[in-house]
Amino acid sequence: MNIKKIAERLREELGLVEKVLRDNLHSAIHIIPELSSYILDSGGKRFRPMVAILASRLCGCDDDRASIAGAVVEYIHTATLLHDDVVDEADKRRGRLAARKIWGNQASVLVGDFLFAKSFYLMTEHLPPEALKVMAKACVSLAEGEILQLIKSFDVETTEEDYYRIIYGKTAALISASCEVGAVMGSDEHQREALVEYGTQIGYAFQISDDILDIAGDPKKTGKPVGIDFREGKVTLPLILSLKEATKAEKRMVRDLLLQDEFNQENFERVKEVILKYNGIEKAKERVRMHGKRAKEALSCFSDCWEKRALEAIADYLSEREY
Ligand code: IPE
Ligand code: IPE
Ligand code: MG
Ligand code: MG
Repeated sequence: MNIKKIAERLREELGLVEKVLRDNLHSAIHIIPELSSYILDSGGKRFRPMVAILASRLCGCDDDRASIAGAVVEYIHTATLLHDDVVDEADKRRGRLAARKIWGNQASVLVGDFLFAKSFYLMTEHLPPEALKVMAKACVSLAEGEILQLIKSFDVETTEEDYYRIIYGKTAALISASCEVGAVMGSDEHQREALVEYGTQIGYAFQISDDILDIAGDPKKTGKPVGIDFREGKVTLPLILSLKEATKAEKRMVRDLLLQDEFNQENFERVKEVILKYNGIEKAKERVRMHGKRAKEALSCFSDCWEKRALEAIADYLSEREY
């Protein structure tokens, strides 16, 4: 089973997600639907709605709330991307100009706020209060993760523990919440915990892959250039694992290169050499596989069914992705 097959089988549900996403952008303020549809139509993978729907079905929720939950998480995700590209000063997103390059930073932040607010409005209208609590908690974690990342930037002493706290907050918490929200619409506590764990583990696998791709990915496949994290002073897992073994002189060199004002491809290459020397990419890939495996193990309380196999396939896909 691959992602395409899963999407085909969920065609109806994902179609409804798209409809909810489109139908709730109306506003007399034209820039809102304009900017929002620009980013929403730019080819996101939509894997958060997919896991939200699969988790809902797995827990016995067989109505349209599964798709509404999917749309809610995609709105939140999209809002974070709009904010993220401002914070990261990114020029590109999904292979196209970032919205902020067309409409400016201020509009990007404010339309991001609109999408956040809209997602909560949709929840109050259609989902149980517990779903709202799950999402609110994830949004708190998101902000915490981004802020911790900001504080830790340019710091070569960033530990593995710091790194995991950051990626839990900025990425895994929302993916986990996408699964949990499915569970709160059906099922018992045990299933809910299992899905929270599954979501957290695929979230880790996903963000660590993203950080690997930022160093060693193919921009033609990822739609974004390499070295962005280095430029922003983000010390990510491949580098953290390498610095554990690097000599004092190498660590000092990496620190000095990170602190240089201007981004310079050559400096990035020198940091990359240290990472390659200590197998930082391979070690981080090993982590991705470990989290993928843990994600699948978390599903062991569910009996075999199509939805469970689809979630397992998503864990494999996220552990092996090249884009
Ligand atoms: C990008 O997420 C942001 C991260 C958490 C790394 P995705 O890779 O899911 O983004 P789209 O929606 O598919 O573009
Ligand atoms: C994305 O983080 C996480 C959020 C959007 C909160 P990154 O900054 O690492 O993701 P990309 O590489 O820009 O997609
Ligand atoms: Mg960022
Ligand atoms: Mg970014």
